[in-house]
Amino acid sequence: MSNLLFKIIDVLADGKFHSGEILANQFKVSRVSIWNAISEAEQFGIEIHSVRGKGYKLTHAVELLDESSIKRAIGEQANFFNIEVMDTTTSTNSVMMQRASEGLPHASCIATNIQTAGKGRRGRKWVSELGENLTFSFLWRFNQGAAMLSGLSLVVGIALIRTFKQLGINHALLKWPNDVLIFHEKAYKKLAGILIELQGDMDGQSLAVIGIGINLNISKKQIKKIDQPAIDLQTITQESMNPNNLIALIIKELARVLSEFELNGFSSLKEEWVMSHAFHEKVISLTKGDGQNVIGKVIDISDEGSLILQTNKGQQNFSSGEVVLNKDWNN
Ligand code: BTN
Repeated sequence: MSNLLFKIIDVLADGKFHSGEILANQFKVSRVSIWNAISEAEQFGIEIHSVRGKGYKLTHAVELLDESSIKRAIGEQANFFNIEVMDTTTSTNSVMMQRASEGLPHASCIATNIQTAGKGRRGRKWVSELGENLTFSFLWRFNQGAAMLSGLSLVVGIALIRTFKQLGINHALLKWPNDVLIFHEKAYKKLAGILIELQGDMDGQSLAVIGIGINLNISKKQIKKIDQPAIDLQTITQESMNPNNLIALIIKELARVLSEFELNGFSSLKEEWVMSHAFHEKVISLTKGDGQNVIGKVIDISDEGSLILQTNKGQQNFSSGEVVLNKDWNN
């Protein structure tokens, strides 16, 4: 995306009309350059209306992310974090994986206003649109090796549940290993997703790039592009959430829960996880990496974060897989 287009979006973020002439004067470019930049917007899924005599406007106002607002919202602990906001990027996880290997500091957060190639778990895409989703990654460096980090992906879910509780959302649930769901209008719908990528030795030092995507205010157009039932914060709270404040709350909670995890492992957080488990004691179907399905009743979560199922072969532990509620059972 051209620098000029993002500067224009920054102005249009108030949701009001802005004339091409004033924009051209403001950025010291021709009106044709403004028009050219605006025609680029569509390829990023951004709708800009153009009305003769009035100028340009976005379909609705958006709250953009910016570093100083996030730091202000963090407050006293702001210096502990290294915050970076990008206008647009492919995937904050991919950028952070690269930058982490180049020495990006512990407790860094890279957020983006527009993400064009967001990655989901199991090779899926994470679709997001300007102002409709919060997309960022958080870096945590561990003194333990990656072998000690089982349970990490569940722990991140706890940080989100705790944050939502702070916002008065007490009914958010976790789907193993770490989707955040809301039961709404008789269905489980996804509010947030987590993608964790690891780097490092199994027994030396390691790091985790924790990618988080949260639905803020998704349009009907975006819902159609998402391959599963989804819900957003706006629908739940009937209020628009400032994304800068939300990032600040989440990364403070992440730092808290990750420190707890480093000290005591997952076992000390397991009860808290199970309390929010959407499918605890329900019959589910789990698709393994090789495509095989296993049906079983959820018994518990192990101290390492595996899912324990009662299946027709007895009790079995699974450390990875995709879970859905089994509709053939009276859950
Ligand atoms: C999932 O539910 O499948 C995980 C979704 C994770 C999406 C986030 S958005 C920010 C970060 N960058 C990415 O490319 N993916 C994660």
